[in-house]
Amino acid sequence: MKLRLDDVSVTFQLPGGSHQALSPVSLAVPEGRFISLIGPSGCGKSTLFNVIAGLQPPTTGQVRLDGEDITGAIGRVGYMLQKDLLLPWRTVLDNVVLGMEIQGWPAKESRARARPYLHRYGLGGFEDRFPATLSGGMRQRAALLRTLLIDSDVILLDEPFGALDAQTRARMQEWLLQLWADFGKTVVFVTHDIDEAIFLSDTIHVMATRPGRIIETIDVPLSRPRPASISTTSGFTALKQHCIELLHQDQPLEDAA
Ligand SMILES: Nc1ncnc2c1ncn2[C@@H]1O[C@H](COP(=O)(O)OP(=O)(O)O)[C@@H](O)[C@H]1O
Ligand SMILES: [Mg+2]
Repeated sequence: MKLRLDDVSVTFQLPGGSHQALSPVSLAVPEGRFISLIGPSGCGKSTLFNVIAGLQPPTTGQVRLDGEDITGAIGRVGYMLQKDLLLPWRTVLDNVVLGMEIQGWPAKESRARARPYLHRYGLGGFEDRFPATLSGGMRQRAALLRTLLIDSDVILLDEPFGALDAQTRARMQEWLLQLWADFGKTVVFVTHDIDEAIFLSDTIHVMATRPGRIIETIDVPLSRPRPASISTTSGFTALKQHCIELLHQDQPLEDAA
């Protein structure tokens, strides 16, 4: 298994008592797959990513990468945070190479590696511009490229398209699938958009709140490539309906009979 979580839980100690953000979560992500986590705000999606990235120590459980225990280790996976902004004082090219720079790539080599990708992904000619002069979609493409160019087989994307309008978002989804195919990476994607999760993923893990947990794992039975019109097919709409029902059932455990 490429990435594996065994009984990962997180309890935050707060002045007024403790708060269990995640009850034990186990997850197995095969190499090269595209996996999504969907669930309402506060169900622990970002907390789970922080644990995988080594930024948040889990209260219980382990994270394994290719079988190796990487719990608490930083820098083993690529991670695009929910609010992953470009540095405004760096050009697009300098932003895109930032992850490689942090990993110790020499400036010249990291730039040489990044340039063809900027061209290929619609940022050619914008290398020397500053982020403030780009559209929202272009800024997200630059932030995604920065994450993908890091030497790591697994990338975590936390609601990367949440702030974009519907049209831009649809184009970005197509573009992400192209990147995924090109780079051959294992992707774990967080969204609260059911259509987006179905369109992109091989497998969807549906989460619920209080405490955060996975309530169902769904393999998406749609072949690839998936045209945009796939969202009108009966397979897609049935799956969507099922996800909606699961998310509606999200009752706090203490309220369950
Ligand atoms: N550092 C923290 N300290 C205390 N509580 C936190 C902290 N980070 C997140 N939480 C709480 O944990 C729960 C899960 O948060 P989060 O992982 O951000 O959810 P999501 O990303 O699914 O919206 C929420 O109830 C949130 O308030
Ligand atoms: Mg979040």
